[in-house]
Amino acid sequence: MKKTAITDHEIHPLIAQRWSPLAFDSKLVEPEKLAQLFEAARWSASCFNDQPWVFIVATKDDTVNYQKMLDCLVPFNVSWAQVAPVLGLVIAQKNFKHNGKPNAWGEYDAGQSVATLLLQATALDLVAHQMGGFDAEKAIATFNIPETARPMAAIAIGYAGETSNLPTDLQERENAPRDRYPLSSFVFTGEWGNSASFT
Ligand SMILES: Cc1cc2nc3c(=O)[nH]c(=O)nc-3n(C[C@H](O)[C@H](O)[C@H](O)COP(=O)(O)O)c2cc1C
Repeated sequence: MKKTAITDHEIHPLIAQRWSPLAFDSKLVEPEKLAQLFEAARWSASCFNDQPWVFIVATKDDTVNYQKMLDCLVPFNVSWAQVAPVLGLVIAQKNFKHNGKPNAWGEYDAGQSVATLLLQATALDLVAHQMGGFDAEKAIATFNIPETARPMAAIAIGYAGETSNLPTDLQERENAPRDRYPLSSFVFTGEWGNSASFT
């Protein structure tokens, strides 16, 4: 299913078409396409070009690591993400590589790299769904993540599936309209709360 955003202003179709479905097809993602996704993430901007993002990825044919990843998700997310052929963790490194000092922008940059990956996924006709609902402590222990890195989110990646294959309550959520706050509520000029004139 497609769920293209109905926007107030014209935006690039890749941005409008990206969304976070619950319904995935079980078809595996071609390794070359997976490489393209992370290549896109690689070319994201970052503070000091530190590239603080790390991804731990498990594909469904790697049954042991896939199950380990699934076991880190909260039950609601397991209920739909277990169909996705690729699961991953998005991790931000806490310190700059060039001087070892805390990188206040590491998490910002890790999120930005995922945003770039998501657009590449859309361009390849793939879908992805990020998840805050995962057990970070469990992920740290399971995947031997060092103290110098912080797991930020889990992500499911794959091809879009049929909404009708979801349980009824999830179908309702899947079909609900997409919504966003208006530009005037978050684009300010002069001072906080003063909407910019073009909004
Ligand atoms: C950091 C982050 C955490 C999220 N956590 C979850 C989650 O645990 N479970 C879930 O079903 N969706 C999760 N989402 C998906 C959001 O609900 C979704 O992005 C939002 O509703 C906007 O919908 P859209 O991505 O289709 O535009 C998360 C998204 C982000 C960016």
